[in-house]
Amino acid sequence: MSTTQTNKIETIKASSTKINEVDFSNLSFGSVFTDHLFECDYKNGEWQKPVIKPYAPFLLDPSTRVFHYGQAIFEGMKAYKDENDDVWLFRPDENYKRFNTSAVRMAMPEVPEDIFMSGLNQLLQLDEAWIKKGKGNAMYIRPFMIATGTGVIANPSDNYKFMIILSPVSSYYSGEVKVLIAEHYSRAANGGIGAAKAAGNYAAQFYPTNLANKEGFQQVIWTDDATHTKLEEAGTMNVFFRINDTLLTAPVSERILDGVTRKTLIDLAKSIGIQVEVRSVLVSELVEAAKNGSLKEIFGAGTAAVVSVISGFSYQDVYYELPKIEFTMALQLKTKLENIQNKLEEDNFGWTVKI
Ligand code: COI
Repeated sequence: MSTTQTNKIETIKASSTKINEVDFSNLSFGSVFTDHLFECDYKNGEWQKPVIKPYAPFLLDPSTRVFHYGQAIFEGMKAYKDENDDVWLFRPDENYKRFNTSAVRMAMPEVPEDIFMSGLNQLLQLDEAWIKKGKGNAMYIRPFMIATGTGVIANPSDNYKFMIILSPVSSYYSGEVKVLIAEHYSRAANGGIGAAKAAGNYAAQFYPTNLANKEGFQQVIWTDDATHTKLEEAGTMNVFFRINDTLLTAPVSERILDGVTRKTLIDLAKSIGIQVEVRSVLVSELVEAAKNGSLKEIFGAGTAAVVSVISGFSYQDVYYELPKIEFTMALQLKTKLENIQNKLEEDNFGWTVKI
């Protein structure tokens, strides 16, 4: 290992690389990590000196707060390599802002922009060889923060660890995605933590999603907790519905995550003349549209999922298969999005940021 001091971040380099052990043509999402990670601890009311060091497990006391009270938040971002080998981030400012919004809601300290952005940039530069070119390939970036204070008193922790880890990825979903519309379980409630990217929001979905998986559905589309009549979001992505030629998606709220891909697709759709309505979409409206043939498409949007086509949905034990159409809005938007992210098309929105 060699230690260098770069722009305030101490860098301890791994003595060897694992890159040659990785089959980049056969990646299972989020299961391979690069040689290094970024780490910054929060102690005595302040952020400590950040470090980039070899990716490795670390020890925590069994009474560490994150294990008991779940103070844990994260982000999902991606970096792309263009034809000239330049590396680009996509709307990193949006992830940074949302990370701190989540931190505030979970009574955790906000991470200063300089720590977040310089950590991210320097880590990506160091492990740049792991980022593969070509549409569909990306480096998935997982910034996260956990409560590291010890003791089982149910108070917010005094110590925290902020880390960034990197995972080369291709697609999240490989086959078709069938969804179940939630009739009983809920993802979030008003006044709760649904809008935060908190680990517990995902854990809470695992049990009902397992039940759905057993019935042959990959995901659940959550409905509002009070009435179960409004369509909200799916476990790993926001959702869009195309009825005739209008694209509909639910407004963000205390219950719905403010997805970066969601807001990007809304802007992209408008820019190519697609009519978009951001409003509550009722389950009854969807069922009616499926029955009368006006429901043309459903797709999910997320950093990991990108744009994932949903082939059908089940509600009250009835399965509604969507029509197979050739030129879908999902494909149009996905192509445009990936072209911008991979620098194959002009970014008129200023979303891409070179590292
Ligand atoms: C993302 O899309 O980045 C997410 O955080 C979803 C996650 C469940 C993979």
